[in-house]
Amino acid sequence: MKADLYYEKETHLIVPGMDQADAYLDEAEQMNPGPWVQHCRFAGQAAYLFASRINGLDPQTAYALGCLHDIGRRDGKFDLLHILHGYHFMVDQGYPEVARICLTHSFINQDVRQAQNNWDGSPEELDWVAAYLADLEYNDYDQLIQLCDAVSIDTGYWLIEKRLLDVGIRRGVNEYSPLRWQKLLKIRIYFEEKLGCSVYSLLPGVMENTFNSDGKLSNCDEPDRAY
Ligand SMILES: [Fe+2]
Repeated sequence: MKADLYYEKETHLIVPGMDQADAYLDEAEQMNPGPWVQHCRFAGQAAYLFASRINGLDPQTAYALGCLHDIGRRDGKFDLLHILHGYHFMVDQGYPEVARICLTHSFINQDVRQAQNNWDGSPEELDWVAAYLADLEYNDYDQLIQLCDAVSIDTGYWLIEKRLLDVGIRRGVNEYSPLRWQKLLKIRIYFEEKLGCSVYSLLPGVMENTFNSDGKLSNCDEPDRAY
């Protein structure tokens, strides 16, 4: 793939340019088509919209991170192991900061125990993820993409609480789930204070998508919808 780097002067992050982020997603869609791709496109768009209104965040960087947070799904139908696939792919491509997001977006509280029901890699791989996360201090990009992941589905944007219930029905919950939900709602408030408005006021179509659906919470019988 043609190199198209984007260098953010303020934080010195190097991420794919927006066109290259799109190209990675297009390639991944050919390898493993599914609703997850649109979910990523919406997450990238949300990240751009939020970051363009927050001092210290760069919208182009945010776009690339949002688009590529689930890029590990290019490798096929896996459960949480997709995060490690994405990590390795982005490291191989020369983007360790995107690789980081591939891991951090799934662990709101930096605690891998919340993943115990959905981990389809080896115990040693999960230990490696735990050690990687333990060394990090989450930054605003980690949290921004966690937020964008939580508001984005394959048809657009949703109320976070609806998305949490949807994921809970499809993928199950455990004793750590309430902590995760609490943290996510705190992250929303954290960014709303920076934005000076509701995150939903910036998300196109969120009202229609959340409330004027076909009456189903989601397509819960479609395992393909996992993202
Ligand atoms: Fe996601």
